[in-house]
Amino acid sequence: MPVGAVKSFIATPLQPRRRAVLIGSAKGLGAALARRLAREGYYLALVDRDPVLLDKICAEINAAGHGQALPYIHDVTAFQEVPSLLQRMMVDLGGLDLFIYVAGVLLPTTPTTYEFEKDLKTMQVNTLGALAWFNVVAPVFQSLRSGQIAAISSVAGDRGRVGNPAYNASKAALDTYLEALRNRLTRFGVHVLTVKPGFMNTDMLKSSPRTFWVVSPEQAADDILKALKKRKQTIYTLGRWGLIMIIIKHIPSVIFRRLSF
Ligand SMILES: NC(=O)c1ccc[n+]([C@@H]2O[C@H](COP(=O)([O-])OP(=O)(O)OC[C@H]3O[C@@H](n4cnc5c(N)ncnc54)[C@H](OP(=O)(O)O)[C@@H]3O)[C@@H](O)[C@H]2O)c1
Repeated sequence: MPVGAVKSFIATPLQPRRRAVLIGSAKGLGAALARRLAREGYYLALVDRDPVLLDKICAEINAAGHGQALPYIHDVTAFQEVPSLLQRMMVDLGGLDLFIYVAGVLLPTTPTTYEFEKDLKTMQVNTLGALAWFNVVAPVFQSLRSGQIAAISSVAGDRGRVGNPAYNASKAALDTYLEALRNRLTRFGVHVLTVKPGFMNTDMLKSSPRTFWVVSPEQAADDILKALKKRKQTIYTLGRWGLIMIIIKHIPSVIFRRLSF
């Protein structure tokens, strides 16, 4: 049993607990969300690839004495593991109220290189990994007639740009899938939130050549928690990206192409 782990969480009628699964939560935005949800009293199943980082964040949360966290090692491209892993986590947590897919990669490339291996990995981690999880979480929440699903997309999903086509496409596909999922699940009382960050100060930002309006992962986590409480459909963090992207989405292709944006 890793140092940060507690064995399992049993909720009772007198001690109801909100329970969340976070995919991609050992560092960056996922870790900030885990800390934030723990402060709200959530009991957490934290999923990621790196056992050392996972144990560290679980130990930190468990020592802080608000919520509790259990670590689960999983690579999101191991799609076949997902159904049994969800079942195990739901037994350990005693149920599920909130599911958040955070995992993502932004693999460095240039506007003149073409590498299918990188595109494949990008689609597998950012999109197909999410779909593997949605396909097992959605029926659970649908039958419970409750629950919240959130996933981290990006402003990069709003237009196809010269810098990283696969990243743009992976987030655009995620957005459309989430919209469809929301349209299916709203009638069952299930809330689906799409989160579109601009730039966040995490390891991923190291791959971005130009950055501005950079927010901390903690600020983004606060925005996400507020949106979950208000049951919003889509948020941008920072909020002003929402206005900017309305304009950017309406720039005609013939002009957008010339901007090399
Ligand atoms: N940072 C930004 O400016 C920015 C802007 C817009 C959107 N986003 C999105 O925000 C989300 C969080 O990113 P971040 O900024 O927090 O970046 P990050 O610090 O690099 O965190 C990404 C997380 O995803 C995990 N992950 C990657 N590949 C995985 C795999 N195959 N299996 C399991 N976990 C995997 C990483 O684990 P490993 O360390 O093991 O790889 C890491 O914990 C991503 O979806 C990203 O696309 C970020």
